[in-house]
Amino acid sequence: MKIAKLPGDGIGPEVVEQAVKAVNAVCARFGHEVQYSFAKVGACAIDEFGDAFPESTFRACMDSDAVLFGAVGDPRFDNDPTAKVRPEQGLLAMRKKLGLYANLRPIETFASLVDKSPLKAELVNGADFLCVRELTGGMYFGEKGRLDGGDTAFDTNIYHRYEVERILKAAFGYAMQRRKKLTVVDKANVLESSRLWRQIAQEMEPQYPEVEVEYMYVDNAAMQMIRCPKWFDVIVTENTFGDILTDEASCITGSMGLLASASIGEHTGVYEPIHGSYPQAAGKNIANPLATILSAAMMFEYAFGLMEEGAVIRKAVAASIEEGFVTEDLAPVGTPARSTSEVGDRVAEIISGI
Ligand code: IPM
Ligand code: MN
Repeated sequence: MKIAKLPGDGIGPEVVEQAVKAVNAVCARFGHEVQYSFAKVGACAIDEFGDAFPESTFRACMDSDAVLFGAVGDPRFDNDPTAKVRPEQGLLAMRKKLGLYANLRPIETFASLVDKSPLKAELVNGADFLCVRELTGGMYFGEKGRLDGGDTAFDTNIYHRYEVERILKAAFGYAMQRRKKLTVVDKANVLESSRLWRQIAQEMEPQYPEVEVEYMYVDNAAMQMIRCPKWFDVIVTENTFGDILTDEASCITGSMGLLASASIGEHTGVYEPIHGSYPQAAGKNIANPLATILSAAMMFEYAFGLMEEGAVIRKAVAASIEEGFVTEDLAPVGTPARSTSEVGDRVAEIISGI
């Protein structure tokens, strides 16, 4: 297995290091050989190469079977709307160049953590759904610019049929593997691009007679997701709506530090936590590494088809949570929080059967 490590900025390096411990423990246990390469993306790449996703990083991704990615972002750029290069461009370039059109963000709850959720336990217990976010189209990549000497700005929410078809096909496929319910989230009462999505989804429905399809406006979906998270099985939506809804969904589980994701498409897939670079915690060894460790589980499953290996990581994460071996975001009041590296070590130990 050739894995490219792209830790990125902020807490990225700390959390990716913990995921690597889990990967190594799994490979030792199952007898897989793993080879790592390393490359820079985000602010650290801007500092070294003047480019947030340099060609050498792209090559490192293309030469690997999977990319384990941390996060990008740096406060130096956040409050400077005139910055010409931004760390986030590295992530967007990576998605575009690797053709990663499908971003899978599963929402799973841990019974021992229900009290961490801002929602009532009876709403949260057993919630289990998959958000399929389109990742290389829409407003993120449509034409954008300024007019009137800078006083008018625009972003274009553009979708082509092939982009909509391939993401819907993926979503129907995941629904078939799960509880066979698909919620297509759009704003078809207002947006033309949403009407194209809805039209294509309706055309595709007969190919998947077992899948129950429902259409939901994004504003309503934002409400239903917290009113009744158990309603959902697979949600599919465009890039911008998916960005916003998955941040909302992440709080259902109690901590954003638990949410993993896989971005897959035409070339090497990228496995990453959905949280950002959390600069306030960088270098302090306090960030929760579990989202990145769970992203490594998704890597085994999606990049290598190794379901048992993925399951062993998931079980180890659940066991470390049960033991109360967690970082400060999850530590019950009155119990000591563990550091990032302690949690990483513990998960690796459990994987190794210690
Ligand atoms: C995410 C992030 C990115 C996005 C940012 C960092 C560009 O919020 O992966 O959800 O908006 O897609
Ligand atoms: Mn986001």
